[in-house]
Amino acid sequence: MNIIPSCLPILPLSLILFLSLLSLFPAAAAGERCNPYDKKVLLKIKSDLGNPYHFASWDPKTDCCEWYVVECDEITNRIITLNVITADFAGQIPASVGDLTYLKTLIFHKVAKLTGNIPASVTKLTHLTFLEVSWTNVSGAVPAFLGQMKNLTYLNLSFNNFSGSIPESLGELKKLEALHLDRNKLTGTIPESFGKFPTAPDLYLSHNQLTGKLPASFAKLDFVRIDLSRNKLEGDASILFGKKKTAQIIDLSRNAFQFDFSKVKGFSKSLIWLDLNHNKIAGSLPAALTKIENLQQFNVSYNRLCGEIPQGGTGRLQDRFDKYAYLHNKCLCGPPLPAC
Ligand SMILES: *[C@@H]1O[C@H](CO)[C@@H](O)[C@H](O)[C@H]1NC(C)=O
Ligand SMILES: *[C@@H]1O[C@H](CO)[C@@H](O)[C@H](O)[C@H]1NC(C)=O
Ligand SMILES: *[C@@H]1O[C@H](CO)[C@@H](O)[C@H](O)[C@H]1NC(C)=O
Ligand SMILES: *[C@@H]1O[C@H](CO)[C@@H](O)[C@H](O)[C@H]1NC(C)=O
Ligand SMILES: *[C@@H]1O[C@H](CO)[C@@H](O)[C@H](O)[C@H]1NC(C)=O
Repeated sequence: MNIIPSCLPILPLSLILFLSLLSLFPAAAAGERCNPYDKKVLLKIKSDLGNPYHFASWDPKTDCCEWYVVECDEITNRIITLNVITADFAGQIPASVGDLTYLKTLIFHKVAKLTGNIPASVTKLTHLTFLEVSWTNVSGAVPAFLGQMKNLTYLNLSFNNFSGSIPESLGELKKLEALHLDRNKLTGTIPESFGKFPTAPDLYLSHNQLTGKLPASFAKLDFVRIDLSRNKLEGDASILFGKKKTAQIIDLSRNAFQFDFSKVKGFSKSLIWLDLNHNKIAGSLPAALTKIENLQQFNVSYNRLCGEIPQGGTGRLQDRFDKYAYLHNKCLCGPPLPAC
């Protein structure tokens, strides 16, 4: 009973003390989520890039889980995403990004003054599933070490200044669901190792200077989306077709593919996009084309095809596509072209 009155004067005192401590350490008091090691690494990345305005929110006095461009894991509070989009700073991807140990997603997109290559330190990011460096001026060879990053499901290096050939090692990425290497200056052939993918990833290689034949191993693969357009590829591409395949998009336009189209006996039922324009494809159009139900884009112009355009069926090649889909062949005829 007499204890309470005796400690009453002490309570306000400790409260005052506590409140003054709060104001001294605002971040800690608010229960900062940020992992101190990750914060240190992020500040190193910022300084390696020359403290550009893009990272203005990266203030050491505040919780790094609240900073722009990054994301913390809900449970572990470790940095799992670094997403640099539409930035104007000049420089290279700092090696220090490899110290964000728990990173799952790393993106540099539309950073026109980003130069140099991808640093080897990214191989330390064993949790990384999503890597995108696109619309930048990153150049040099596509690094072979990317093949060590076995957890990658998505790799997008499109719209850069990469040159040299595609490394065989990328065929080691068994979990890959999509590979974008389009719009670079890549030369050489498509690696034979791509035949080792357990499931064919969506493959975008367009607008490069790739040469040679498709790997024979492609015959076993079932690409849902494949865009090889605007390269210098040659030989038989008919291995991409077949009744048992589930392809939706096949774009082989503007290459030098050369094969007899008449020998193709079937197509994927799900095909919606088939562009073969500007190649050296000979023979006649296969009757199986009339069985595709949802073909929306179809173009065989500028080839060496001959014979009557197959009529009827659900494909309705004669009225679903205009003459521009068929122009400049050896002797194609029948609607929508003049009668044979
Ligand atoms: C690369 O840099 C040049 C200027 O040096 C610029 O015109 C171009 O848009 C840049 N490329 C990309 C993809 O941003
Ligand atoms: C893939 O990620 C898992 C969990 O994120 C990790 O345990 C494993 O070591 C990683 N594998 C490789 C080859 O880095
Ligand atoms: C792009 O690559 C070419 C060589 O292919 C090089 O001459 C040019 O300087 C590169 N541009 C940049 C911005 O790195
Ligand atoms: C990846 O690459 C493609 C080009 O192949 C591009 O259009 C796309 O915007 C990129 N990024 C994502 C997230 O798909
Ligand atoms: C087919 O491709 C040719 C050549 O690029 C083009 O001129 C034509 O407009 C295209 N036709 C259709 C229907 O897409």
